[in-house]
Amino acid sequence: MSSPEAPKPPHGPDLARTQFAVSGPDLVIGGLRVAEIVETVGSPVFIYDADAMRQSYRALAAALDGFAAIHYSVKANPAKGVISLFLAEGAGVEIASLGEYRAARLAGARAEQILFAGPGKRRGELDAVIGEGIGEIHLETVEEIERVSEIATRLGRLVRVSLRINPIAAAQAGAMRMGGKPTAFGFCEEDIDGVLDLVRHAPGIALVGIHVYGGTQILEAAALLNQWQHGIRIAGDIAEKWGGPLETIDLGGGLGIPYYAGEAPLDLNAVAAGLPQLSSQLRSHPLLQAAKVIVEPGRFLAGPGGAYVAEINAVKHSRGTRFVITDGGMHHHLAASGNLGQIIKRDFPVVAASRMDEGALYPATVVGPLCTPLDTLAREALLPELKAGDLIAVLQSGAYGATASPSGFLSHPAAAEVIVEAGTMRSAQL
Ligand SMILES: Cc1ncc(COP(=O)(O)O)c(C=O)c1O
Repeated sequence: MSSPEAPKPPHGPDLARTQFAVSGPDLVIGGLRVAEIVETVGSPVFIYDADAMRQSYRALAAALDGFAAIHYSVKANPAKGVISLFLAEGAGVEIASLGEYRAARLAGARAEQILFAGPGKRRGELDAVIGEGIGEIHLETVEEIERVSEIATRLGRLVRVSLRINPIAAAQAGAMRMGGKPTAFGFCEEDIDGVLDLVRHAPGIALVGIHVYGGTQILEAAALLNQWQHGIRIAGDIAEKWGGPLETIDLGGGLGIPYYAGEAPLDLNAVAAGLPQLSSQLRSHPLLQAAKVIVEPGRFLAGPGGAYVAEINAVKHSRGTRFVITDGGMHHHLAASGNLGQIIKRDFPVVAASRMDEGALYPATVVGPLCTPLDTLAREALLPELKAGDLIAVLQSGAYGATASPSGFLSHPAAAEVIVEAGTMRSAQL
C-alpha cells in the first residue's frame, strides 16, 4: 500500500492512459481504437495487447535476473496466442489439466518445458502426458504417487516428479497467505516422511524437486520474498530427509497486480533487491546448490495487458442509482463481478472506452444481461454520461477472465478474444 504522501496509483482513466493509450474519445489498445475492434469482431470482446504482455514478462525476467526460470501458468489465460507469446520470450509453462497441456503443446511448448500441478489429476490425463514425456509432474496425493508409478512402469518411462508441499503454519514467519491450513493442495509438510518413503519405493519415478505455492495476488515485495525464503527453507529440510540433492524448487506464482483504487503495483525493484540474500541461502545449502528455481506466475504476466470490452445496451435510473446495462457480464468475467472468491466486492478499473475525453464523471453501477444481481461488473464506477451503443472497458482483465467464468450460464454467446499488436488484430486462438 502507498503511504498517504505518495502519489495515488493510477486507476480508471489514468490507468488506461498508463497501460494503453487514449486518442480523443477513444481508448486505443495495440495501436487500434477499441471501437474499431468492436466494429470488426463484435462485442463483448477480450482484447489482449501483445506488447503489454511481453513487457510484463520482460520486467519480471529482468528483476529475477537469472535467480529463477519463469513458467507461465496457463490457467490465467489459455488462449493459444497468449501462451505462444510467453513461450517466445523464453518461458516454460505450468498446466493443471490435459486440456491446458494440449493448449500449451498447440502453442508450441515442448513436452519437457511443461510442469503439471493440480490436486485431482486423472489417470487418463497422466497417461497422456507421461506418454509424451512431460517435464515434471507435481504429486499431490498418495493415489497420484501410485498412479504415476504404475503408468511409468507400464510405459517404460522414468517420470520426473516433484512433491507439492503444504507448509506448516508455525514456520511461516509472516508470509500470511502461505499454506498452513487444511487444503486439498499438496502434502502436509508434517506428513512428509511417510510420503518420501512411498516415493522411495515407487518404481518409474524420480524425485527431482519440491513445489510450494502460497497464494495469489501478493502485492508486497516483502511478503513475496518472505514466502520464497520459506520455500527454500522447506526445500532444504526435504532434501535432507530425502538424503540427496534437489534439481528443482518451484516457488509458485502469486505475484499480484493492482485492481482496486489505491492499490500500488508490486515493486519489482524491491523484489530484485531481496534476491541476493535468497541466492546465498540457496547456494549455502549443499543439497540445493545446483537446484534450478522456478516461479510460475499467471496473473502478473497476462493480467495488465488485457481489457474486457462490452457495449452498453441501456442506461436506467432506479431510485437514485444509475445502472449501465451492458451486453457483457459475469458469464465472461466472473472475477470483475467480485464472485471469483473475493470476500469484499470492489470494482475493477472500468472506463468509458468510447468517451475517454469527457471530464464530468459520476457514479454508475455497471451490470450485465443475466437475471441475477450477482451480474454486476462495477458498483461505483466513475463514468461520463453514457447511452446505448457506447463502450465500457474493464481493465486488468488479461488473466482469469474468460477461462475463469461460467460461460454456459444463460446461454449467451462467448466473448471474442483477440490479440492486438502494432495496429493489427488476430484471433487469440491462433
Ligand atoms: C499451482 C499454481 N501455480 C500457479 C498459479 C498461478 O497463480 P497466479 O496467477 O496468482 O500467479 C496457480 C493459481 O491458482 C496455481 O494454483
